[in-house]
Amino acid sequence: MEELRNDVIELAQSTPSSSELMQRLCRLLHERMLKYNWVGFYMIEPEAEPPMLALRAFLGAMTPHTRIPLNQGICGAAASSGRTIVVDDVSKDPRYLACSLGTKSEIVVPVFAHGRVVGELDIDSHFPAAFTPEDQELVQHCAALVGKKLENSKQ
Ligand code: SME
Repeated sequence: MEELRNDVIELAQSTPSSSELMQRLCRLLHERMLKYNWVGFYMIEPEAEPPMLALRAFLGAMTPHTRIPLNQGICGAAASSGRTIVVDDVSKDPRYLACSLGTKSEIVVPVFAHGRVVGELDIDSHFPAAFTPEDQELVQHCAALVGKKLENSKQ
């Protein structure tokens, strides 16, 4: 995982736009972490009423949840609380919105820019309790790099 961490840093340095970085991170995490079966970024649509998360870059099966209100799902809970949520068994979490029948566990990490939640990195696994503290650290690092890129870009 150390090598992947370095590749993530290199990717962030060599990718100028935040949208491109999100796409490339999805690809890198999906390809290299075999237990990461769905990897995607949802970004908050600031003008939407009620406030919404909209699916931007992703890799994995198509999901029915391309727009999620902030008061729904594990995604909504992570974005509205500004905290990472790790769910070891999605079937036991009443907030869970099903994306794929194969999903057993999930991690959602908020993306912050200028101190505010602007989106999140969501990863699903077909394995129960797939997200260890080490995974959590890696995913949080990826989310933080996207936040920094957003802060430093004009778009
Ligand atoms: N499971 C998420 C919905 C997004 S899909 O997993 C891609 C949730 O409960 O918010």
